Amino acid sequence: MIIITGITGGIGNYLFNAFFREGENIIGTYHINKPEGEQYKNCLQLDITNNEEVEAFVKRVTPQSEKITLINCAGISYNSFAHKSNVDEWANVINVNLNGTFYLVRALLPIMREQNFGRIINLSSIVAQTGVLGTSAYAASKAGLNGMIKSIALENAQKSITINNINLGYFKVGMINTVPQELQEKIKSKIAFNEFGDPKNILNTIQYIRETEYLTGTCIDLNGGMV
Ligand SMILES: NC(=O)c1ccc[n+]([C@@H]2O[C@H](COP(=O)([O-])OP(=O)(O)OC[C@H]3O[C@@H](n4cnc5c(N)ncnc54)[C@H](OP(=O)(O)O)[C@@H]3O)[C@@H](O)[C@H]2O)c1
Repeated sequence: MIIITGITGGIGNYLFNAFFREGENIIGTYHINKPEGEQYKNCLQLDITNNEEVEAFVKRVTPQSEKITLINCAGISYNSFAHKSNVDEWANVINVNLNGTFYLVRALLPIMREQNFGRIINLSSIVAQTGVLGTSAYAASKAGLNGMIKSIALENAQKSITINNINLGYFKVGMINTVPQELQEKIKSKIAFNEFGDPKNILNTIQYIRETEYLTGTCIDLNGGMV
């Protein structure tokens, strides 16, 4: 079974529909707006920053689950120079991207350990490794995931559970649409392919991680050769 968060987002929605078309047993979660369509009928509302909600969600969906893959797609960004930033907005980014991801991982691990199988895949970002103006909160939250997976990988490898990040560059769907056009062109000039990525590359990378039992505690850079 695949559990995927953030299915109303650009990437989460692409992945959800791709897995749905392939006939996978999939549960998606949305945050604020319920997506319309027959394929979403089993999807559930979930605020990943609320640990009680996360625990209740996991209790509800796991009885009918085996061989779980968790894909953490939910995420937010906050653009501000550090010296002008709002501390609540800053904390909110950490809360969604790092704490919320951790709550889901934490709640699912006991079930994965019982089942002796698990795949956890977090969508992280190139911004965790490179400086980008105005992204200190986002970068810190994604870099936090890099540290988090190392420890969880060690704790769970003997149970055939793997945890990895995909450090995304810039893709044609989702958050990129909030970036001004002029800046988008500047970003493209730093990408070897000179264009934003097609999300099918994210799908392929997720399938590779799912099938590769020896890959854990690591980050795969998927950025079109960005410099
Ligand atoms: N698109 C890119 O080029 C790119 C690049 C690097 C990394 N990433 C990462 O890839 C992931 C998906 O990105 P995207 O572009 O698809 O983002 P997006 O379009 O902005 O979608 C983000 C999703 O997260 C959900 N979300 C926000 N707060 C939540 C909460 N508290 N609880 C549960 N869900 C919540 C949103 O739901 P609501 O709208 O209902 O709040 C939405 O479904 C993110 O983690 C992002 O950091 C994306």
